[in-house]
Amino acid sequence: IPVQPFDYVVFGATGDLTKRKLIPALYHRFKDGQFDEQSRIIGVSRSPLSDADFQKLARDAVAEFVEKEYRDKETIERFVSIFSYIVNDVTNQDGWGDLGKALRDDSQVVRAFYLAVAPNLFEPICEYLGKRKYYRRDARVVLEKPLGHDLISSQEINDGVARIFAEDQVYRIDHYLGKETVQNLLALRFANTLFEPVWNSTHIDHVQLTVAESVGAGTRGYYDESGALRDMIQNHMLQLLCLVAMEPPASDDANALRDEKLKVLRALRPIANGDVGKVTVRGQYRGVTSETTSVKGYQDELPEGKKGSRTETFVALKAEIQNWRWAGVPFYFRTGKRMARRVSEICIQFRDIPHSIFDHAEGAPRPNKLIIRLQPDEGVKLLMMIKDPGPGGMRLREVPLNLSFAQTFSERTPEAYERLLLDVVRGNQTLFMRRDELEAAWAWVDPIREAWDRASEPPQPYTAGTWGPTGSIALIERDGRTWHEDD
Ligand code: BG6
Repeated sequence: IPVQPFDYVVFGATGDLTKRKLIPALYHRFKDGQFDEQSRIIGVSRSPLSDADFQKLARDAVAEFVEKEYRDKETIERFVSIFSYIVNDVTNQDGWGDLGKALRDDSQVVRAFYLAVAPNLFEPICEYLGKRKYYRRDARVVLEKPLGHDLISSQEINDGVARIFAEDQVYRIDHYLGKETVQNLLALRFANTLFEPVWNSTHIDHVQLTVAESVGAGTRGYYDESGALRDMIQNHMLQLLCLVAMEPPASDDANALRDEKLKVLRALRPIANGDVGKVTVRGQYRGVTSETTSVKGYQDELPEGKKGSRTETFVALKAEIQNWRWAGVPFYFRTGKRMARRVSEICIQFRDIPHSIFDHAEGAPRPNKLIIRLQPDEGVKLLMMIKDPGPGGMRLREVPLNLSFAQTFSERTPEAYERLLLDVVRGNQTLFMRRDELEAAWAWVDPIREAWDRASEPPQPYTAGTWGPTGSIALIERDGRTWHEDD
């Protein structure tokens, strides 16, 4: 079913995000018949392009970033025909008039402004968008990260936007929330009766959240200013934590859900200065050269002026949530670039059985684990103990009850942006971060960052292609636990 017709204005139209993520996502939704015929995409950027140039850019982006089996010439041509372009250096007056003319003055046409630009431009752009030609009370503004580099800067950015747009008009993207498996976490928890009764400290020993990437970081210009804590933990991973740990909301209403997520963030035990060294580990990858591979270290990827950078490309930390449900249950996080392989997963480890009757059996009972795999190979797996088949004695074995999405469903898994871009048109803020959530996340992360900045020692080195520095293994093993590693 098509969504309402829209004018989607994309600032930063020639940038990487537009080409890699936004255009391919819009293409898929268009191809599936979700665009009303009246819908338009208007690109805005400084580069002096014509409509035809921008349409070519869109065509090229589809050719490069949409899998071959979904590309067909006729659909691509219909798709690019809804693209137009406006040359506009947003910091001066030129070009704004053209945008005013391009927007349709029809309340049935949803008006959305996507700011795929550096955050220092949010405020000046919003200021213009507040003028009569562009602003409508029902217009929407979509913000891309980084939304600040600490609490204060994020407040400044949000204040700038809030001078024009009310909170119910603001859509802050965290693309992890658009991932199919992340939404599935909600279904798993709140559409089944099985899990909720055991979803607490009585039954759960601890939770592990891993987002490991095999790619490096150095060629991404922004990364050195950011580091893994700001780039992954502050946003994506804390959002995952919220979905795992929140209380059941009363409904799927956007604010009901976001209220519950906010409570989790506010219940995170602050990591005090003196504890930072004990419960956090930061690392930076070193290059590796062998007969078969040669991978550069982070330092070698940096431009001259940045050599010696102490930016972390890996973080492991232990967090605690101070409430009745989770008291005493540690949440271990780890994320990094150039790790052994790409895997994002949440592992819920249940407690040991209270008493074993299998003293004479081969193999001791191991605690159950529920593993929610976000990528790659999305799925849910429950590790449980069974008796090894056979007439002999009792032999216990851990086996997975495995739900692989790829094997169960024939549909392709949509990319996060497909869902999120159209949720903006639908006016559904459920999968977008509210301002108070964002600020609560910064408030928790800032003291860690500050303690690291003051620390005399640099991040611990780890070899590219491994699971991170040895300190991260020690972090969890000190508690008598180990990182979950799938076969
Ligand atoms: C982005 C980070 O937000 O998420 C990148 O800035 C990271 O550094 C990316 O690579 C990971 O996203 P995904 O969807 O590939 O897991």
